Amino acid sequence: MSAALPLAVRLIALDSVGSTNDEAKRLAVSGAAEGAVVTAREQTQGRGRRGRAWTSPPGNLYLSLLLRPDVAMARLPELGFLAAVALTDALALLVPAPGRLGHKWPNDVLLGGKKLAGILVETATGADPARAAWAVIGLGINVMHHPSDADRPATSLAAEGASIEAAALLPPLVVRLLAWRERWLAEGFAPLRAAWLARAARLGETISLRGPAGAESGVFAGLDEAGALLLDGASGVKRVPVAEVIGAAA
Ligand code: BTN
Repeated sequence: MSAALPLAVRLIALDSVGSTNDEAKRLAVSGAAEGAVVTAREQTQGRGRRGRAWTSPPGNLYLSLLLRPDVAMARLPELGFLAAVALTDALALLVPAPGRLGHKWPNDVLLGGKKLAGILVETATGADPARAAWAVIGLGINVMHHPSDADRPATSLAAEGASIEAAALLPPLVVRLLAWRERWLAEGFAPLRAAWLARAARLGETISLRGPAGAESGVFAGLDEAGALLLDGASGVKRVPVAEVIGAAA
């Protein structure tokens, strides 16, 4: 088990960059210590999950944190939950109605059922292919702007009446990312899983998923001990490690 030591943060605040995740990955490959935080006022090649673009105009928050957790590679998907919980913890003190914050499996943060933030975790192994060498956690938070896409309803803090600037959100978010990192290293996934489930959108409701095996529906019954979605469907409860919840954002 790794010791959960407090981390020294090194902030690299950029004006315009292709992608903060790409910058953080470059730092990782060049041997930078964990704790590097790359931010940018805007991204010109912001990347989302599933190869999607992440539109990144000035006014929103773009942040990538480099970690070097001494854990099995198989545990790194837990970092997406860590980022979501850290963000909702930070936002809970800043938005007018914190009960409207939600977690959408696996890695989105919702406000009022619409997507407020996305998370992209990128990782690499070291000499031992089963162990992590580094992980970059990228967060994109719609502070002032959000995309208009009827299929993927999104919102921003500004649109929801929360007058917060990207720069003001950064310190409380980084503090909570580091606090959850320490707790995750010391106590494992269980506390994170509980915190994530406490704000899980559509828990106990019928949802539709699109995954490698195609589309399927069932009741969202929870998360397993590794973060896979538990789907209670026609053939009983099954674990779904990778898929996208389709339909309305929440
Ligand atoms: C998603 O929901 O598809 C994930 C979006 C992740 C966007 C962030 S913005 C900061 C970091 N840099 C990137 O290029 N992507 C992530």
